[in-house]
This record gives sequence, C-alpha cells and structure tokens, in this order.
Amino acid sequence: MTITAVNTHVGAKPILIFPACMPRSLEYLRKALAEGRDVIGSSSLGLDPSRDKYPAWLTLPYITDPAFAAELKQAIDDFDIGGIYTPNPVVWYFLNRMLKNLAPGVVLVNTSPADTELHGYRAALQQTEQLLETSLPLASNIAAKEAATTIELAALHRHADVIPGMCDHEKLRALCEIARHSRSGDIVEIGSWWGKSAFILARLARLYQIGKLLCVDPWSNQHMVQNDERGMVDIVSAQVDADEALVVFEMNLLPYNANHVNYLRLPSVDAATRYRSDTNVNTPAFGSTDYSGRIAILHIDGNHSYHAASADIASWSGLVLAGGWIVVDDYVWPYGDGPQRAGDEFMAAHQDKIDSAFVMGSALFIQLSAPLDGNA
Ligand SMILES: C[S@@+](CC[C@H](N)C(=O)[O-])C[C@H]1O[C@@H](n2cnc3c(N)ncnc32)[C@H](O)[C@@H]1O
Repeated sequence: MTITAVNTHVGAKPILIFPACMPRSLEYLRKALAEGRDVIGSSSLGLDPSRDKYPAWLTLPYITDPAFAAELKQAIDDFDIGGIYTPNPVVWYFLNRMLKNLAPGVVLVNTSPADTELHGYRAALQQTEQLLETSLPLASNIAAKEAATTIELAALHRHADVIPGMCDHEKLRALCEIARHSRSGDIVEIGSWWGKSAFILARLARLYQIGKLLCVDPWSNQHMVQNDERGMVDIVSAQVDADEALVVFEMNLLPYNANHVNYLRLPSVDAATRYRSDTNVNTPAFGSTDYSGRIAILHIDGNHSYHAASADIASWSGLVLAGGWIVVDDYVWPYGDGPQRAGDEFMAAHQDKIDSAFVMGSALFIQLSAPLDGNA
C-alpha cells in the first residue's frame, strides 16, 4: 500500500506562531521544527524570553491595538505566511473572524484552544458514562461494592490517559470492575515502567478501599530483553533509559500517593522472596509502607518471555487470597505467546482453585476460589 504524506492546506508556506512564548506555542514549535516546517515566532512583548528559540521573528502590536490588523496583513504579505498557530483563546477567536476578510488564503492551523484542551476531559467523561451504562456481568465470588461515582471514574480515565504506557480501554474497564469485586489486601504489580497501570491500580485501591499498591520492577535495560519472536520489541526497548523510566514513574505516582504506594526495584522473583520475609518497603520518594503480605489483586505485566512470565506467576500466585484476582497482561500479544502459555499452564494446573476466568482487551483475568498454598 502506498501512503502519500498528508500535507495541510498551508503547504510549504511559513506558519506564524503568535504569541510565541506560551507553553503550547513552544510545544507546537518543537513539533513543527521536527517536521521540517518553516516557522516564524511573533510576540507583542518588547523583550520576549522565547525569541531565541525561533528561527525567524517578527513583532506585532497587541491584538487590542488598532494597528494590529494592518501590521498582521503586512507581515503576511512580507513573509508569505500560509497559516497561523495560536493557543491563546482570545487571539484565536478574533483571528478566526478576522482572517476571512484580511487574508482569505491564510488559515488557523489549530482548532479552538478551549476545544483542544477540553477534548481529553470530554472523552473521559463519555467513556465513563458508557462504562456505567452497561456494567460488566462478572461471575465473581466477592459481592460487588457500589460503583465509584461518575466524576471519580472520569478523573481516573482522564489522568490515566495523560500517563504514557500500555493499557487498552477494555482492560481498564475490566480492572475497574474487578476492583469492585475485590476483597481487601495488597495490590501487587509486576512491571510498572512509567506507571500507567500502577496509577490506575493506585486509584482503584483508594476508590474501593482495597489496600496498598506495591510495584515491582527492576527498571533495568538488562531485564527488558524478552526475546520476542521477531526481535522487534527488544530493538525498541534497547533505546529507552530504564533509570529515566523510574524517575517518570515517581513523577506520575507521587501526586496520587496517600501513603499507600511504594516499589521494590528488583526482578520479580527476588522481590517475591523479599516480600515473603519482610513486608515493609522504604524508598526515598515514597517513604515507608507496611504491606499485609496477602494479595487481593496481582497484576503481571513484566518481561513477556515464556520463562519470565511463568516465573512471575510461580513466585507470586501463592500469595493471592481466596477471591483474589490474577491479571496476566498481554495474554493476547502480537510479538509472542509467553504470557498466554504461562497463563494457560497456570489455569490447567489449578483448575480446582479457579472460580472464573475471562479475557478482556489484551489481558487474562483469573479469580481464585481458594489460595494455592493454603494461606487463606
Ligand atoms: C510492558 S512494561 C510495563 C508497562 C506498564 N505496566 C504500563 O502500564 O505501561 C514491562 C515492564 O516489566 C519490567 N520487567 C522486566 N523484567 C522484569 C522482572 N523480572 N520483574 C519485574 N518487572 C520486570 C520492565 O522493566 C518494564 O518496566
């Protein structure tokens, strides 16, 4: 299939960014330069701190100045400007009305700033309303708690969306539902990376008063080699910085920590040994957290090789309580079948202790009827 690069209607003509120093302007500048676009910064300030960041510059009067329209027209003609980017809602509104007559060929390259900013909030609200409209009928052995309110769930969706990482909407929906049907205990996540699913679990832990969240991840490039079938995941993983990922994880989780989040920077097998012998976890960022040592929800999203996924399940599943949930992420995974084989083998070996199991989104959800090693 041939795909032709989509060119916007401004073609190769320069884009004017005005006012140039707003954070969104600088974000737009970065993307435009990366795409090789010709841009000109512009401001009404005598001394604009962002001026040096722009390859070309012009000064315009404030939009309230009667000379603004004429000077803008002059600039458009002088520089052959094809489009204007402005994140300022007032400037956008008036330019949107003014350009049709002033310079009919020149377009605003962005949609209304308010609509742009609100899009994610509206989408989160819509998603939540859909979720609450049709609840997921779970054959759970734990009675459902009352669903969190629309605004609480919409906040969860919105903030989850802002954190980069992997968690499809169907999986998120199922996580919300199993959290309602969860008993009290620790939530343990194997594989947290930048903290997207960790954030979701941390919020669900609070919304349904489940317990504390322990994140387990070595945050080391060495542990990210998973020998996926075509090697495609390993090539990309080698390009990311695991130390930086931990910093990003902390930045994402700290604002939501109510003394109920912490992490062990260890491979999962070592972390399981540590957790079995000592349930206190102390880190400079999150302080000291005491866990119960009994798991209500175990989320496995670590290394996806068959060997690693099996080891994760083997070292942690024995700590899951009766009625507890085991979630194996990427059970459906285009790069290999490690999590699926490990999940299927677990189910085959423990059929008599599993009450229900289902796949939603990319993940496998298993609810135990009895603990595997008698820890009740
Ligand atoms: C797919 S990412 C996790 C994504 C994350 N849950 C999210 O919401 O975006 C896989 C993570 O597993 C971690 N990992 C690799 N080997 C591990 C191991 N032996 N024990 C625990 N985590 C491991 C990696 O460092 C990486 O952060």
